[in-house]
Amino acid sequence: MNQIKACIKGVHGYVPEDVLTNADLEKIVDTHDEWIRTRTGIQERRILRDPNKATSDMGVEAVKGLMEKCNFGPDEIDLLICATVTPDMVFPDTATTILYKIGATNAFGFDINAACSGFLFTMTTASQFIMSGAFKKVVVVGADLMTRITDYEDRATCILFGDAAGAVLLEPNEGSAGLIDSYLRSDGSGKEYLHMKAGGTLRPASEETVRNREHFVYQEGRPVFKSAVKGMAGAVDTVMERNGLQGDDISWIAPHQANLRIIQAVADHAHVPMEKVMVNIQKYGNTTSATIPLCLWEWEDKLHKGDLIIMTAFGGGYTYGASLWEWGY
Ligand code: UT7
Repeated sequence: MNQIKACIKGVHGYVPEDVLTNADLEKIVDTHDEWIRTRTGIQERRILRDPNKATSDMGVEAVKGLMEKCNFGPDEIDLLICATVTPDMVFPDTATTILYKIGATNAFGFDINAACSGFLFTMTTASQFIMSGAFKKVVVVGADLMTRITDYEDRATCILFGDAAGAVLLEPNEGSAGLIDSYLRSDGSGKEYLHMKAGGTLRPASEETVRNREHFVYQEGRPVFKSAVKGMAGAVDTVMERNGLQGDDISWIAPHQANLRIIQAVADHAHVPMEKVMVNIQKYGNTTSATIPLCLWEWEDKLHKGDLIIMTAFGGGYTYGASLWEWGY
């Protein structure tokens, strides 16, 4: 009997209309366009300004687009998992809110928080529900409203982040297309360099935490940069080696978009030319859980059945890894 594969059958993305350019940031913090472009590759990012909208609303837009494109209704969804570090609320989870807003009544859902590796971790997790034979239609959402947790007084960090959502449909497949391998790791020693100080049970919200600006992303860029290159390059290596692949065998790398220099270092290490690496950081910045699905969405027209794609990410935790997929359409 053929093993059931978890196959990507469609992808859709959503970015808010409002653009936050490097020139806009020059008016807010002591920075300049040239520094941001050369140190990160970012030229602009999107921002959801409507205070009545939250992460779930971006997720809903992405899922609605996916349903229309792939021609299925909300009641056909068995499971929806949302990767996010910016849930609408601490609870309930954002997946349940998305399911409610799209009118899905036959599904269950939950969130996964693995910071910038959230989408990568969620794709592998979601695939298990398909591979077990238990479910037929699983939707993975990567959505983050990063500008709501960005400190616009911290110039080294505020230039990085933007808002977006992406959604992917996973279905069973008995052919070769689908998830082939994944290597995922969590390393809690990285916590000190990338975290949010308050708002959890360790340091609940108080006047002091608000005064100290502890409800924003805290990042020490240099150590994170080094670990990101090492973590992503090493994970890609592992997956390529385990599957007997050389750089030439890889059709595309879909990397987390945190810094163009990190992406280039990972591609170099894997001997994959930049023409085969999905890069849209210049337009959207770092959208955390949404970076990889946004890439797949923008590259969808260029992808062919049988393409071998490596997704790789690194984020707070630390969390990191890589997964190998054969594209199915
Ligand atoms: O997605 C999750 C994982 N996150 C990442 O992978 C991010 C990894 N880290 C990075 O991408 C980079 O470390 C940053 C983009 C965050 C920072 O770039 P960097 O090249 O590591 O800069 P740095 O922090 O070492 O700072 C270099 C200089 C400093 O000035 P001095 O001390 O050399 O005089 C900073 O104060 O650049 C200065 N600087 C800025 N200058 C203009 C820092 N931010 C800015 C800024 N504009 N926005």
